[in-house]
Amino acid sequence: MSDPPARSGREHSARSHFDRRGTTYDQAEVHHRIVAILAAGADMRPGLRVLDVATGTGLLAFEAAGRVGPAGRVVGVDVSEGMLAEANRKAAEAAPRNLDFAVGDAERLDLSPASFDRLVCASALVLMSDIPRALRHWHDLLKPGGIIAFDTPARPFGISGTVAEIASRHGIRLRYADVADTPGKCRSLLEEAGFQVVAVTTELANAAPIELEKAIGFWDDHMDHPAWQALKEAPPATRDAIRSAYVDGIAAVATGGQVPNDTALNFAFGRKPS
Ligand SMILES: C[S@@+](CC[C@H](N)C(=O)[O-])C[C@H]1O[C@@H](n2cnc3c(N)ncnc32)[C@H](O)[C@@H]1O
Repeated sequence: MSDPPARSGREHSARSHFDRRGTTYDQAEVHHRIVAILAAGADMRPGLRVLDVATGTGLLAFEAAGRVGPAGRVVGVDVSEGMLAEANRKAAEAAPRNLDFAVGDAERLDLSPASFDRLVCASALVLMSDIPRALRHWHDLLKPGGIIAFDTPARPFGISGTVAEIASRHGIRLRYADVADTPGKCRSLLEEAGFQVVAVTTELANAAPIELEKAIGFWDDHMDHPAWQALKEAPPATRDAIRSAYVDGIAAVATGGQVPNDTALNFAFGRKPS
């Protein structure tokens, strides 16, 4: 799989933001919960070939490798070498023989058509620069009858959703918050890419509040997140106004120094027709 040259601010952000999160990413319980739901819903059975696009530190790829067993095969691809370094560190420890990681852009993978039984994408579909095109590409990579599984931000979407709502009031659209926030939008995305809808569910992935200080720090920590590209490019005065409204807003709803951070996700499963 080739390592393509950076082509946009978004892709550059994906690399720099996630490169520095590789060693701490697995600490957040919510990521493990998402992976468990996708792996269970994707019906991974022994002997299957699985592609995990935007694999990150490989949480879902390792889960898949356990489920498909020695007769199966799992490939995890990601643009972030920092995230993949962590995936490879874990692979060196666990030494699974049916799992490989590679650097690659999920939107243009140089892989044979119809070569995978399952294609999974955890917490990353909304980061793709052209979501319908990415889904069509992934449809090509699946065998007839193969299953795709992904999750998308729903509502409420925690403090990320708060930022997106305030940004929208200032005329800045943060696409992750509304591009696939309903089961209906997820169904349409699947169908327009040629998949039959198997199931779309909405679940509360996180109900734990976040400390006010961390919620404020979230702003600085996420400014280089690829999903915040439009915010990063906003005029500084607009960005400052959004930040002030965000900090005031979360401080106003905090109780005992804790900010509500209920985060719901849609889980979508589709099948490539046989
Ligand atoms: C929130 S993390 C999810 C990681 C992993 N799927 C998980 O759930 O643990 C998003 C990942 O998407 C990757 N990513 C973003 N855009 C990508 C692209 N075009 N191709 C491949 N990976 C991409 C980032 O580098 C990052 O590792």
